[in-house]
Amino acid sequence: MDNQIPDINTTPTKKIGRYLITAALPYANGLKHIGHLAGAYLPADIYVRYLKAQKRDVVFVCGSDEHGTAIPIQAMKEGTTAQAIIDKYHPIVAQNFADLGIEFDIYHRTSSPLHHETAQAFFTELNNKGHLEVKTTEQYFDESKATFLADRYIKGTCPVCGNADAYGDQCEKCGSTLSPDMLINPVSTLSGNAPIKKETQHWYLPLNRHEAFLREWILTQHKQDWRTSVVGQCKSWIDGGLQPRAVTRDLDWGIKLPDSTPGINANDQQKVLYVWFDAPIGYISATKQWAADHQKDWKPYWYAPDTKLVHFVGKDNIVFHCIIFPVMLQLHGNILPENVPANEFMNLEGDKMSTSKGWSIEMEDYINDWVKPENGGESMADVLRYYLTQIAPETKDSEFTWKGFQEANNSELVNIFGNYINRTFVLMHKLCKGKVPPLHATLVDATDHQLVAEIKAAAIKIESLLEAYKFREALFEVIDIARKGNKYMQDKQPWMVAKNAVIDGQLTPEGQQQIDNCLHLCLQLAANLAIFIHPFLPFTAGKLCKMMKVVPKMLEWENAGRIDLLKVGYSLREPQLLFRKIENEEINYQLEKLKAKAQSATTTIMESTQEAAQATQDEVAIAPVSPEIVFDDFAKIDLRIGTIVAAQKVPKADKLLQLSVDLGFETRTIVSGIAQHFAPEAIIGKQVTVVVNLAPRKMRGIESNGMILMAEDSEGKLHFVHPSTAINNGAGVK
Ligand code: 2FM
Ligand code: ZN
Repeated sequence: MDNQIPDINTTPTKKIGRYLITAALPYANGLKHIGHLAGAYLPADIYVRYLKAQKRDVVFVCGSDEHGTAIPIQAMKEGTTAQAIIDKYHPIVAQNFADLGIEFDIYHRTSSPLHHETAQAFFTELNNKGHLEVKTTEQYFDESKATFLADRYIKGTCPVCGNADAYGDQCEKCGSTLSPDMLINPVSTLSGNAPIKKETQHWYLPLNRHEAFLREWILTQHKQDWRTSVVGQCKSWIDGGLQPRAVTRDLDWGIKLPDSTPGINANDQQKVLYVWFDAPIGYISATKQWAADHQKDWKPYWYAPDTKLVHFVGKDNIVFHCIIFPVMLQLHGNILPENVPANEFMNLEGDKMSTSKGWSIEMEDYINDWVKPENGGESMADVLRYYLTQIAPETKDSEFTWKGFQEANNSELVNIFGNYINRTFVLMHKLCKGKVPPLHATLVDATDHQLVAEIKAAAIKIESLLEAYKFREALFEVIDIARKGNKYMQDKQPWMVAKNAVIDGQLTPEGQQQIDNCLHLCLQLAANLAIFIHPFLPFTAGKLCKMMKVVPKMLEWENAGRIDLLKVGYSLREPQLLFRKIENEEINYQLEKLKAKAQSATTTIMESTQEAAQATQDEVAIAPVSPEIVFDDFAKIDLRIGTIVAAQKVPKADKLLQLSVDLGFETRTIVSGIAQHFAPEAIIGKQVTVVVNLAPRKMRGIESNGMILMAEDSEGKLHFVHPSTAINNGAGVK
């Protein structure tokens, strides 16, 4: 057998290409939870770190989505302004991402003037080129608030999954993209009232014109390379029939329609771009800002055909990034996404993650409990990254459990990866004087060859999995090669050699050489592990570089699979503990905390529901519903419309008015207890509803022949019940 280690230091193919990687812009309306992190930001960050290690030209953009109804709704909840909300949450969320190692090239804001200009110009161009349609339609309107009910201002039952709390734009339970008209039993979230329909003019993106393009581009060209779930969701949208989609809204928070828009009229003062029209354009404005900050040209990233645009999003954003935004991009002359590797949902301890229900782990909470230096430090950010990637919902929904988190840390990071690194460094210090030992060619055996081959194979496999957005499997391969390193060390047992290959109390030269070979290869594997783990666990890779006294440049992917990364004789630092064991108490504490949080959120929801109910009760003393009657009971009552033709006070009765009511077929005298509510002269000519077959009754000596129906409001004021327009007297009321 050839004892030489094969030369694997081949020059890798130089990768060219320009990448623009986006991660969904989160609404700046609150804290973001680890489900969001796992859905879009973490996989995007892993991919970007890998691409950068490949020395490709990459820009990674993200930022706050600061428009749409989500923002003013949160402002109402917090009793403040929409501007105050975005100014509060933008920096917090940006810092949370940074603390968890999500390294955007820019974290921009859609409230920036640059974005407003960019989005307006985009709209104008599509509109001027005839790519939009203007239509007047009836839309839901809340009369009590005098406002149209766009998107999250309206709620109802989801027609897809039956969730009673679906928004007008989206169901957060099943992820379906909706429009207000699709909701069953819609109600205004502003007042709780059922809305009416009112006419309004809007600009529409006629998706129906683009069906052929979408079918060809998604269902044929990307059938194989896009995730099955993504293609499937697009297919069902397209098959369901593409409709024109409004890209403007009647709202007072958002990007105003350009004044120059043809057809805009005085009533359009409150028209803004639909948030889902402006937000993805935010990727473009973020790129522009990044380019301006770095003296670069932004245009190739959005126009050059060799740029690879990849959108990382969660399941509920698929349609926007695969259908609507691509149509906009195509019409605008931009490149189209190469891929949209959307994830499914990640549940938590058996239930859907939801911040409002308290069933979630906010990034902020995780950072406070685990990542703050006093609570574990940066390596705990990597533990979360590890577990979220290990259970990434790449092909189906997955489940975060605190036990699973503990198990992943203790069994894999501590026992396999950390243990391998620790053993290697401890033994190297103990048996090789703290220096990289040489490799003695004559002693290289089949086990060594096998390890080297495995390192090389791992590099190739991890690379191809990362290229295919299979982060979960790629991470498995990283741990697997660490596992193989442990096995190799176990097979070689250098500590036994040090004990047994001794003559006269001295380790034999051959014994030392065997130890050298083992630890030489173990150290080269450790260097490879730093490269492999870096996209996933950047803080850990940083620690490894420090221990090996190498610069981060070593982490470049062209070094993956090499076994000459650490130079012979180079002295290395003492091992640093990479991961610590997580104790049961810590996990139990988190479980209790989660339950308490959910309990308190439920109580808050119940309290606010009760408060709302109480407020309604306080406002309007609603009488209990009377005992049931059958239709025949109701049919006995003869109700007619009449007009008050004369009215006067009843002497010595401060509550009574004597009215003459023209009922068409006769004029009757009716005594009514409304004197404290109406001046007699003020009600002459009013139409009223009268019970005309009520038995006559004498009041203060006057025979009353009927009864006038009145409605009583929450303040006890009386109002006539009358037809909305004047009709003939004597008309029946049914
Ligand atoms: O779902 C959300 O949180 C949206 N704010 C995502 C927007 S992604 C993009 F279009 F900006
Ligand atoms: Zn639903």
